[in-house]
Amino acid sequence: MVVQRTLSIIKPDATRRDLTGQINQRFEDAGLRIIAQKRIRLSREQAEAFYDVHKTRPFFNDLCTFMISGPIVVQVLEGENAVTENRDIMGATDPQDAREGTIRRDFAESIEANSVHGSDSEKTAELEVAFFFSKIELLQ
Ligand code: CMP
Repeated sequence: MVVQRTLSIIKPDATRRDLTGQINQRFEDAGLRIIAQKRIRLSREQAEAFYDVHKTRPFFNDLCTFMISGPIVVQVLEGENAVTENRDIMGATDPQDAREGTIRRDFAESIEANSVHGSDSEKTAELEVAFFFSKIELLQ
C-alpha cells in the first residue's frame, strides 16, 4: 500500500445542485482526506489548457463550454492508493456504465456532465495537482 495524492474536481453540474458535501462525504468515508481545496470558476483558456490531452476529441469544445458554465471545486485527495481509490469511488466516465453506489451512477447527469473528475495515473495526478495548486497551498 502506498500513500498517494490525486486531483479531484467537482464539476459545474454538481456545484449547481449543491452536491459538494455529499460527494466529499463519500471520499472521506472511504478514507481519502481532502488536504487542499478551493472553489473557482475557470476561464475558457484555463479549461482548454487543463483538458489539452483531449483537444483532438470531438467532445473537446462542448466539454470546455460545460466546465466554464459554473463554479467547480478543485481539491487534492490523499490516502492509500488514492488515484485508483478515487476512480473506484467516482465510477465509469459514462454514468450508464458506472457501478451502483458510485458518485457518477448516483449523481451524474450525462457522460459530459458527470459530476466529478479524477486523475487517471500517478504521473497525471502530479501534473494536475500542480496545475491548480502551488507548493505553499499543499501540506508537506
Ligand atoms: P473527465 O474524467 O473529466 O475527462 C474527460 C471528460 O470528457 C470526461 O470526464 C467527460 O466529462 C467528458 N466527455 C464528454 N464526452 C465524452 C466521451 N464521449 N468520452 C469520454 N469523455 C467524454
